Amino acid sequence: MKITDHYTFHGELTVPGDKSISHRGIMFGSISNGLTEITNFLQGADCLSTISCFRKLGISIENNGSSVLIHGKGLHGLTAPTQILDVGNSGTTTRLISGILAGQSFESTLDGDNSIRKRPMKRIFTPLSQMGARFQCWSSDFFPDRTELSDSGCAPFTIQGGSLDGIHYQSPVASAQVKSAILLAGLYAEGDTSVTEPVLSRNHTELMLAGFGAQITSAGVTASIKPEPVLNGQKIRVPGDISSAAYFIALGLITPHSEILIQNVGVNPTRSGILKTALAMGGAVTLLNERLVSGEPVADILVKSSSLHGTTIQGSLIPTLIDEIPVIAVIAAFAEGTTVIQDAQELKVKESDRIAVVTENLQAMGGSVEPTEDGMIIEGGKALHGAFIHTCQDHRIAMAFTIAGLNASGETILDDETCTAISYPSFYNDILSLTR
Ligand code: S3P
Repeated sequence: MKITDHYTFHGELTVPGDKSISHRGIMFGSISNGLTEITNFLQGADCLSTISCFRKLGISIENNGSSVLIHGKGLHGLTAPTQILDVGNSGTTTRLISGILAGQSFESTLDGDNSIRKRPMKRIFTPLSQMGARFQCWSSDFFPDRTELSDSGCAPFTIQGGSLDGIHYQSPVASAQVKSAILLAGLYAEGDTSVTEPVLSRNHTELMLAGFGAQITSAGVTASIKPEPVLNGQKIRVPGDISSAAYFIALGLITPHSEILIQNVGVNPTRSGILKTALAMGGAVTLLNERLVSGEPVADILVKSSSLHGTTIQGSLIPTLIDEIPVIAVIAAFAEGTTVIQDAQELKVKESDRIAVVTENLQAMGGSVEPTEDGMIIEGGKALHGAFIHTCQDHRIAMAFTIAGLNASGETILDDETCTAISYPSFYNDILSLTR
């Protein structure tokens, strides 16, 4: 795809439903009794992978292209899959479903694309094994024949679920996927289960599972769950995804003479670090019409072009904006002065190594950026020029560098923009709707 400098962006848009919340709606609806209806469901490839996996586990799911109806079969209603569960590109599907499968009396095998085959899964194997599940990784060269074992700690792998014991797990990483996997396994365990994180990660599992009837509590960085609740189907309205809104926050801030109203965005404080960061950089970002929808805080976000300065992003802020760091790095390249991003080593194990890939692409555009062990240092304010962008099939890299390209001189070429369908299938149409 070819992108050229565009003068100004104006107008209103709604971004698609939140990816994290859409995944959870399918999973929790599947293990609840009766119907769950999800409206504004994200029809991105990752969430479709979750639907496909639960269908293979015997759940009937109707998807009309916007809302989704799940005929839940209760906590113990899943049936053994006769096929491999294909998780596609989705880390959330892989890790959360593993928590549920750990509590089943059958065996399941999971596999995904080349990116998922490199993502670390020991972080869930360790606690789920302590609870009583067993895991075996397979050499992908001989898959699906499963003739050669592997100790890669990555997909493809088989889970043998069974009777579980509750644990109190001190997680070495602030990861909602790890936390959620353990809490979901805790639904099936003997005794209580709790997870303590170094820093609080997104809490959608805690909020939504409570809505379905789970006995789940949070205190600071610890979440605890009691086993064997009666979960009942719910109606869930998914808010717009702040991780998708982030590209339009960036576009509005860095493009001169622009003003964008992004309606119906989830602004849960465990996700909204980009808003704090934009304000800290001098950005004109205003929350309007704040409200609660299906237990989640929601607002409309008004963004105006701003003269920005650098900031430091670190510590407990990091999990609240982890997926937005590629586009925040782009914003930083347009801000005067230095932006330091630290404590973000998790970026190395996302859909791509986002420290390396952001650095390489920003440098190709003439940006001044240095990678560090746990983040990057960006000297902003240098005019960017178009370049050839290696997306590494990472949706967030493709979208972040589309925003950069729209504000760079000359032509920017993305090697492959189709990966945007992972989380934001209408991304390019939504940009076009704002061009003036
Ligand atoms: C997610 C948690 C985060 C995030 C991912 C979605 C979730 O991953 O990066 O895109 O829905 O729980 P980690 O849990 O690995 O931090």
